[in-house]
Amino acid sequence: MAEAPARSITRRDAARLLGAAVAVAVAPKPVAAAAPSGARAEIAPPRARRTDVDALLRRMTLEEKVSLLHGASDPRSKGEAGYLPGVPRLGIPELRLADGPAGVRATAAATALPAPVALAATFDARLAERYGAVMGREGRALGMDVLLAPMCNIVRVPQAGRNFETFGEDPLLAAALVAGEVRGIQGQGLIATVKHLAANNFEHDRRSVDARVDERTLREIYLPAFEAAVRAGAGAVMAAYNHVNGVYAAENRHLLTGVLREEWRFTGWVMSDWHATHSAAPAITAGLDMEMPFGAHFAGLAAAVTSGRPAESVVDTAVRRVLAQLDRFGLLGGGRPRPSRDAAAGARTAREVALAGAVLLRNERDLLPLRRADLADLAVIGPTAASPLAGGGGSARVLPVEAESPLGALRRQAGRGARVRWATGVDLEGVAVPASALSLRRTRKDGMPRAAEADHTGGPRAATDQPGGPRAATDHLGKPQVAAQVDHTGANALPAGSSWTWTGTLTAPETGDYDLGIQGAGGVPSFDGSISLTLDGVRIGSAGALMGGNSSLVATSGGLTNAGATVRLKAGRAVPITIAATGAAGTPLQVRLAWVTPGRRQEALREAVALAEGARTVLVFAFNEGTEGADRTSLALPNGQDPVIEAVAAANPRTAVVLNTGDPVLMPWLERVRSILQMWYPGQEGGDATAALLLGRACPAGKLPVTFPRRAADAPTAPAERYPGKGGTALYGEGVFVGYRHYDAHDVEPLFPFGHGLSYTRFRYDDLAVSHAGGGLSVSFTVANTGRREGVEVAQVYLAAPAAPPVPMPPRALAGFARVRLAPGERRRVTVAVDGRALAYWSDGRWVTAGGRRTVHVGSSSRDLRLHQEVTVR
Ligand code: BGC
Repeated sequence: MAEAPARSITRRDAARLLGAAVAVAVAPKPVAAAAPSGARAEIAPPRARRTDVDALLRRMTLEEKVSLLHGASDPRSKGEAGYLPGVPRLGIPELRLADGPAGVRATAAATALPAPVALAATFDARLAERYGAVMGREGRALGMDVLLAPMCNIVRVPQAGRNFETFGEDPLLAAALVAGEVRGIQGQGLIATVKHLAANNFEHDRRSVDARVDERTLREIYLPAFEAAVRAGAGAVMAAYNHVNGVYAAENRHLLTGVLREEWRFTGWVMSDWHATHSAAPAITAGLDMEMPFGAHFAGLAAAVTSGRPAESVVDTAVRRVLAQLDRFGLLGGGRPRPSRDAAAGARTAREVALAGAVLLRNERDLLPLRRADLADLAVIGPTAASPLAGGGGSARVLPVEAESPLGALRRQAGRGARVRWATGVDLEGVAVPASALSLRRTRKDGMPRAAEADHTGGPRAATDQPGGPRAATDHLGKPQVAAQVDHTGANALPAGSSWTWTGTLTAPETGDYDLGIQGAGGVPSFDGSISLTLDGVRIGSAGALMGGNSSLVATSGGLTNAGATVRLKAGRAVPITIAATGAAGTPLQVRLAWVTPGRRQEALREAVALAEGARTVLVFAFNEGTEGADRTSLALPNGQDPVIEAVAAANPRTAVVLNTGDPVLMPWLERVRSILQMWYPGQEGGDATAALLLGRACPAGKLPVTFPRRAADAPTAPAERYPGKGGTALYGEGVFVGYRHYDAHDVEPLFPFGHGLSYTRFRYDDLAVSHAGGGLSVSFTVANTGRREGVEVAQVYLAAPAAPPVPMPPRALAGFARVRLAPGERRRVTVAVDGRALAYWSDGRWVTAGGRRTVHVGSSSRDLRLHQEVTVR
């Protein structure tokens, strides 16, 4: 790959983007859309090699070779997830591997992009390339060499914790977007890692569950996006935690060697997910090149080679793959200059994706966009209106340096004459637990937090003392003192670097469910969280954890991290409680023990209803919290949000809901609200984008990349043996009937179908013409904007199964799409190229065309098909 010039990416600067490959063209002329499989794209041309990799390999000792095959602790961590020390004497550089996929996760500030699900909702591979380019440049600027993104596992389970990190339920869409993103990342010189190969579709038991999935389903549903990423030139692949058909993904010969290398001709390297390696010789022989983040197994490779298994040539092959990529990216022999971060360009792309991926789910009698009269008396309700929910949790969590709240942006954009009032409705924050409920002693512990000691993420781990650390904090061991409350915020914060514990009891005044939380800032970064709350011997909250711990994605109004649990307390019963906090040097340590009492919960609801009753129009912001490591236990909105929406909608019929969720949620109140705008986790510019859409300064144009079910029981994975599985095995028994394929095949009415998304304008479809072209189809039609404002339509092409399918096939499958911008009254001829692969199914080791009479449907969603034409496929 050519060395990318250090350059800024501006909104107009999309020209460089997209080569031959993928989906959609939005052109001022007739639209020609290439096949969106991405699978047919060429492998990125290898850059002329500068280094003789084989000669380099011959100069390496066995130990040096092995050191390139497993991670290590970084003595100078930049907050990356993984590190390799390199072989400096031979000009092989150290490597830093940072998480994505919604921005570069590092210690230094980075652009918090909208979650990949929002990108998927744009159906725009060119935007995916620009999204990737932001991370590519920032990763390089922040000292990284490899990005642990994109993630392209298909959304199979509607409540899976990481749905927000990926590209939805359709393999063709995911393939188009992942290919674009890989090109964007790598075009800036950062190596992309496509993850997690394969069938890593939910979090429950993720480290060991055995995904039992037939070969045809793998090929048609779960592998196409990986194939597209490989064809787009991805330098690295990450093997998943889980087993696939009885074999750990990280030692699965079929996937890592058979499919990836022998069939797809992948020339990069495969690393394991973090702690997902289970052996040395079997894993490396199967095709795993690198164990991350440490060398629990692979560190023993030198000794293993010496005793004969594996052969040194196996190690050489793995090392050669790593070196070849380092060479390809210009990293060998002195490296290359790093660009500076372009924060403004990152912010522009973040905003553009947030706007383009917003999905208008419902808009009865055009309540949106808001008019002047609405703004003159607008009620805004919900915690995420005031505290922005920019991104999902886990390793994808990128904390924005700054993120304006939707409420702030609304007030700013609405300007003079607007009256925008807010009530939380759902109180996530509460108040400091009063002294009357506490009996506490506090101790200031000796010592300062120890400087960086790597944990599994490569970041520093909290520790207690450090000989020779700053003297000021080691000067005394405090005796326990009586403490009335734990409420050290703002001016009352504790000294930077200090370390404290509070122990005693908590006694509730009335019996009920309390949301008990530890809120904080300034804790020393640690994997477990350096500000913690333990109740009755159970740790229920940890704030300040590197990957978020169990803290909410929604900060308090004062910007504190908020972590805790809902606990049942009995009036008058004293429960043991411990709070511990260890501060980082340089920032005051803030700690608050807070609760939301049953009374406060009711009061917050009453306040919201009163505000809604008195206003002309109401916006309710609702959220869920998607995070790695845990699936949602229910598809319902959490934290009692449904009753609040119900009560507000009953109080004011002019109610619109704004969703910040990473995936489908149930909407028992659907019929009682006029509008629903899905903003996903919209990144650092999400507040501004949300306000622009609500006020009509921008027009929603996103489409759902996932089906929203009416009931959890309707999902294809509702049977327990499919999800979460039984006895450690999840049967992918639905086969290829994933997402909308299932709903269509079983005639189940979804809440909102795949591909659905309204606009502030209207589009008409006419004049479908289908012809055979290059092994596939060429599908042309006209789209007209019949409304009064400019808008963007994602026109979708679905291909029906033959009347007598050779294998069970879904009634329709997405075969192509085009994103078309149209002025009011404008008509455009659009051509979508359907790749031959879209006509085929996988059978006995090859793609076979499903011939016969097949109908091509064109429309605005998978259930809003406007044009139809039969073709004979041979
Ligand atoms: C996740 C990966 C991530 C890695 C490093 C793992 O737990 O599954 O997606 O890249 O951690 O943080």
